[in-house]
Amino acid sequence: MSELYRQIEGHMRALKLKGMIPAYRDLSERATAGNLQYEEYLALLLEEEVKRKTESSVKTKIAKSRLPYLKTMEEFDFSYQPGLKEKEVIRLSSLEFIEQKGNVLFLGPPGVGKTHLSVGLAMKACIARYRVLFTTAQKLIEELILSKKDGSIVERLMAYSRLHLLIIDELGYMPITREQANLLFQLISMRYEKGSIILTSNYNFDEWGRVFEDNVVASAIIDRLVHHASIFYINGSSYRLKDKLRKGK
Ligand SMILES: Nc1ncnc2c1ncn2[C@@H]1O[C@H](COP(=O)(O)OP(=O)(O)O)[C@@H](O)[C@H]1O
Ligand SMILES: [Mg+2]
Repeated sequence: MSELYRQIEGHMRALKLKGMIPAYRDLSERATAGNLQYEEYLALLLEEEVKRKTESSVKTKIAKSRLPYLKTMEEFDFSYQPGLKEKEVIRLSSLEFIEQKGNVLFLGPPGVGKTHLSVGLAMKACIARYRVLFTTAQKLIEELILSKKDGSIVERLMAYSRLHLLIIDELGYMPITREQANLLFQLISMRYEKGSIILTSNYNFDEWGRVFEDNVVASAIIDRLVHHASIFYINGSSYRLKDKLRKGK
């Protein structure tokens, strides 16, 4: 390596310009061969750095959002859920609902793709650099209860309200007591018209009475959730079952 290259790379390392390091030599050769003007060379070099920094910031967003797995909207096979309005689901990918602080609800039995679609939208939101957090209803409630006990509930609620998109997965797997429902209600009220929620549940609203000990709080929660919401009932068969059936054959 020439002394000049060594010097350049040293500077790039010191400035953490990791996108430039693998690119600058080829570009320099192209420029030297007379194929690039000074400005073109600089623009291409900077572009490499911007590309890398963008990728790394999206990666960080995805890691911070704590998604249970990585699946995209494009990987979702709509032909397997003919009852689901494909166009309306795809329209969510524009993330207009996040701009409008609206909610999205995916309701239906296990295995129909509720979590997959939530994750797909979450990934789009991360790519668009929104602050996203994925959690399950159970984990969320446990955290709220703990925070209430140790006196950090206000900070905890504030932290949740700073998110652009909060995903609450699997509401209904565990019964929800009055105290738990009250905390959930506080969280949902705080985000109401301020930030989006994607919520999934294996129960329809008319069955939420079985999930919540207190019907009054349940209605108040539903009221705020559905006010600006796109609601999708997915009633097809389980995709997990499809894989099982195939393997069985
Ligand atoms: N229509 C679909 N197209 C492609 N994969 C799907 C579809 N529906 C479900 N899956 C896959 O099946 C598994 C279960 O789906 P998931 O979204 O977790 O179900 P649930 O509705 O219980 O949340 C996941 O691996 C998911 O990616
Ligand atoms: Mg799920």
